[in-house]
Amino acid sequence: MRMIDYWDNLFRNRRTDPSHEACLDEDLPLLKPGRLLDLGAGDGRNAFFFLEKGFEVTCLDYSAEGLASIERKAADCGMPVRTIRADARGDFAALKDERFDTIAMIHFFPGRDALNRLTRLLVEGGTLYCVTFVKDEQDPGSSKYSIGVSRREIAELKLNPGIVADHMRTDERGVLYSFLLRSDRPSEGWICS
Ligand SMILES: C[S@@+](CC[C@H](N)C(=O)[O-])C[C@H]1O[C@@H](n2cnc3c(N)ncnc32)[C@H](O)[C@@H]1O
Repeated sequence: MRMIDYWDNLFRNRRTDPSHEACLDEDLPLLKPGRLLDLGAGDGRNAFFFLEKGFEVTCLDYSAEGLASIERKAADCGMPVRTIRADARGDFAALKDERFDTIAMIHFFPGRDALNRLTRLLVEGGTLYCVTFVKDEQDPGSSKYSIGVSRREIAELKLNPGIVADHMRTDERGVLYSFLLRSDRPSEGWICS
């Protein structure tokens, strides 16, 4: 099954409303308030958390089912959310003239090339925050693997002077890596090739 079909299927059939990623309670003060891009937003569990905290939220995902679910929930609760259907590994054409205070990638890491391009969408002093699974701990055929970050990518991230904090933690779901990048600590892209 293609991964996009896996996500569509999951969001189409989801009957529960999962709560936001728990580490956001602790990490929220690190994020620059204002306009937030939720990249790989899924069906919006974190987007609605960010909305409640006062962010203006744009959700980008390639799953039509996830975005449709977000739009339904937004209509139900009367909260404004913008949705964009695109490939978050590089199709940022819809955002080319926009700037965000924060980009959040919760259980989604788009890869090095996309990360370099995403940092250009941040305002001066903007923050990019990611928390996701460590791929090397996951089955290569799994959904967790497909949205994770590899130990090699983590080693490269640690050399990027834009990364001001990072953290490895383990919970019942697996090993998770999070990092925070600030756009006022610019690097010329990634140091490693
Ligand atoms: C594990 S889910 C996380 C969803 C949400 N951030 C959350 O924490 O509940 C991964 C999300 O990434 C999206 N995704 C995966 N690859 C993508 C891609 N290349 N472009 C856009 N979205 C993608 C999936 O559709 C799915 O919504």
